[in-house]
Amino acid sequence: MSTAPAAPLALLAELTHRCPLRCPYCSNPVNLTRVAAELDTATWARVFREAAELGCLQVHLSGGEPTARRDIADLVRAANEAGLYTNLITSGVLTGEAKFQALVEAGLDHVQLSVQDTEPGSADRIGGYRGGHARKLEFARLVHDSGLPLTLNAVVHRQNLDRLPDMIALALDLGAGRLEVAHVQYYGWALANRDALLPTRAQLEAATATVEAARRDLKGRLVIDYVVPDYYAKRPKACMGGWGRQFLAVSPAGRVLPCHAAESLPGFDFPNVREVSLRWAWEESEAFNRFRGTGWMPEPCRGCERAEIDWGGCRCQAFALTGDAAATDPACALSPHHAVLSVAVGEAAEAGEAFTYREPQKVPG
Ligand code: FES
Repeated sequence: MSTAPAAPLALLAELTHRCPLRCPYCSNPVNLTRVAAELDTATWARVFREAAELGCLQVHLSGGEPTARRDIADLVRAANEAGLYTNLITSGVLTGEAKFQALVEAGLDHVQLSVQDTEPGSADRIGGYRGGHARKLEFARLVHDSGLPLTLNAVVHRQNLDRLPDMIALALDLGAGRLEVAHVQYYGWALANRDALLPTRAQLEAATATVEAARRDLKGRLVIDYVVPDYYAKRPKACMGGWGRQFLAVSPAGRVLPCHAAESLPGFDFPNVREVSLRWAWEESEAFNRFRGTGWMPEPCRGCERAEIDWGGCRCQAFALTGDAAATDPACALSPHHAVLSVAVGEAAEAGEAFTYREPQKVPG
């Protein structure tokens, strides 16, 4: 019998893996989906209706770069007509005035814009896209002028964390209502670049103090979300709010996933919206039920007073660092593998700053 929670809060619709940027911490899988394998407009429209029927309240239209899809306005309209709150997660570099106006007219509710840094040369280097930062600022002005709510998403790491105060100032300058300060999470591309990205403990402590002060000073003007890096944690985060509890993602090729990185896990047969309903995937599929609840947990998670707080942490990180997706997340100080994190921190402190970029040619168009 299924133990599925009543409804996921949100659907992450990964519309495409195509993206003009090459961020070295990209959350897409290392093996990217080809454009010919992407779901078509009608199938996405059905997915949005099924998500709404399942109880989802909002859809995050993401990628890759979601506006790389020529039908992006049709997709926004379809999600809107399904009754979902639509959030566009974008780099902003492909959207000029006419295209943005089409998205607004299609019913877009919210924009989440990523920035790589505040110093243009560094931002363009991190994103691997010359001129990208300037285009992002132009796009942010369009959003502001439209009156749509804007969230700025700043992924932070060793090479930009010292400019966190400038990122907060930029969010205010652009009229964002929310700033997400998200430390890199190390799976996929980010794991390949971990040595170049991991912050020092001093940087982390300074950043945390900056966020706490800004939250106090800017109360009522700017909401700041703060995602801290696991590598300095004593207890793991409740990744995705727990496996199969609050969240589901659909990949460009239609696979239904409990988290955006789940395809990195071996031994799964993820259901596909081409073959099953979203409800069946959520409620009945083995993939969603495997790590749901607490019954799957090994020692020391089993019986831990935090088992229903952190839900065992992150399965993708457990696999990436131990080779076993069912292991206790090494971010937990009680994990027998916890020392791998401090070893990684030590190695990163000795490493240089060169990146292995996500390569766009892996997504033939
Ligand atoms: Fe997959 Fe955390 S990213 S469970």
